Amino acid sequence: MTATVTSERTDAHSLPAGPEWWRTAVIYQIYPRSFADSSGDGIGDLPGVTEHLEDLADLGIDAIWLSPFQLSPQKDAGYDVADYCDVDPLFGTLDDFDDLLAASHGRGIRIIVDLVPNHSSDQHVWFQQAIASAPGSRERARYMFRDGKGENGELPPNNWESVFGGPAWTRLVEADGTPGQWYLHLFDSSQPDFDWSNEEVREEFRRILRFWLDRGVDGFRVDVAHGLVKAEGLPDYTPDPDAGSMGGEEANVPYWGQPGVHDVYRDWHALVAEYAGDRALCAEAWLPTPEKTALWVRPDEMHQAFNFAYLETEWDAAALRSVITESLDAYAAVGAPSTWVLSNHDVVRHASRLALTAENPQGHGIGPDSPGKPIPEVGLRRARAATTLMLALPGSAYLYQGEELGLPEVIDIPGEARQDPTWFRTDGERYGRDGCRVPLPWTTGGPAYGFSDSGASWLPQPAEWATLAREAQVGDPSSTLTLYRGLLAARKARALGAGVLDWIDAGDDVLAFRNGNVTVVANLGTAPIALPDGIVIAASGPVEGATLPTDTAVWLADD
Ligand code: NOJ
Repeated sequence: MTATVTSERTDAHSLPAGPEWWRTAVIYQIYPRSFADSSGDGIGDLPGVTEHLEDLADLGIDAIWLSPFQLSPQKDAGYDVADYCDVDPLFGTLDDFDDLLAASHGRGIRIIVDLVPNHSSDQHVWFQQAIASAPGSRERARYMFRDGKGENGELPPNNWESVFGGPAWTRLVEADGTPGQWYLHLFDSSQPDFDWSNEEVREEFRRILRFWLDRGVDGFRVDVAHGLVKAEGLPDYTPDPDAGSMGGEEANVPYWGQPGVHDVYRDWHALVAEYAGDRALCAEAWLPTPEKTALWVRPDEMHQAFNFAYLETEWDAAALRSVITESLDAYAAVGAPSTWVLSNHDVVRHASRLALTAENPQGHGIGPDSPGKPIPEVGLRRARAATTLMLALPGSAYLYQGEELGLPEVIDIPGEARQDPTWFRTDGERYGRDGCRVPLPWTTGGPAYGFSDSGASWLPQPAEWATLAREAQVGDPSSTLTLYRGLLAARKARALGAGVLDWIDAGDDVLAFRNGNVTVVANLGTAPIALPDGIVIAASGPVEGATLPTDTAVWLADD
């Protein structure tokens, strides 16, 4: 194999020096369709991101994770890829991508891109060839085609369910019009699963990795990184109906976390290591515990994995202390950093989620008919405290666009405006993820709150976007944006990402620890507590006198 070394383009960029940047980086997730629309079609795009890079540099992030922008029929908002090496015209062109990468690198911001290896779109040329070819052909062998059960193959090959609801198998009508084989899709029927036991699939993804590495990307966020390899014989499995929106919290699932998946990442680790510049792989793997997830970041596999155990922990001091300790131990045991994350495009935004009650767990999204809606003030207060806590933890942290504005989940999206396949596949029984994907507000007024000059927006924006817009928050000392800026600056100045955490015992409803010369205290109880000595360098809410109010977190410095 010929080693491809760093392109000139990358060398020309002025990225901050320092080995293994991903160990401590704050990485900002951009969901391009909802970030900023430069073309006026109501869907955000790559030039829209480039136009706002200065705002991101001002926020103080180290890197961007770009959710999919590759060619796609958009049945699952781009997670159904038809061509892995081209940009969907909705989002721009490859030149727009190169411009964005160069402009980001010029500001010292790295870019990792989403890679979707578990499945393609049914419009991918390989799947089109597969359905036009005979059972048993080389073309079909790239996907998971099987004969059905029952006398005439009329029953699916097993009982697996799609993560989005409904069966995980769809039956083909063969070219001659007769009912044919079934194909597996762990997600929507438009997202057929690849067969990763096929060397041709492995080779194709090596090519795709190289395509983006050669362009100069700093790494990949790997979609469904626990799902590529399925258990031998595809045994039946009935999922827990209460599992979260992406499943994966259960143990021993025949399509999640199969041992064979690790070979793929060892292979990719070696490939990525051929490139100069510390490129990183981050696993999106929904697994039950940090110990399990740490298997994805052993020294010869990926570099990071999302800490979903942390994201899924309720607003409870004991539960948080335990998941933080467990995470730091589990990842340190394999020499990897822990990551921390509170929101992304698949879960209820944490400014709403942290105020959900037991009667209304986040489950599969929240909507107009969900019981016990979160109280916005409580949600925002807790979200600010949770982020203040998170950004003091050693390791790398992921932010999801809009959380720096304190955006809540949008609950009142009418059924006819919803777009998540989950909503359609469950006949509206599950609301799905549209509520966290509503286009961002940049300005307090004007068309689409500055998201799009034409006023178009692919999901309706609520009236409260006016007060939450970035424009309303810049320069306001009490705004969530100002809080995030301050936290990121202090985190960097005091190297908290590279620090060590030492717990302080401070009572049942309190989380307190030291990291370097900073003491972090979060009050999760219902009554104010005494504030320890120190200079307040960041606070998630008003701190007056010597007490710390409920749902508030603070950073105190010795000097
Ligand atoms: C995880 C992605 O984050 C989600 O948005 C997508 O629907 C599924 N994987 C399927 O690709």
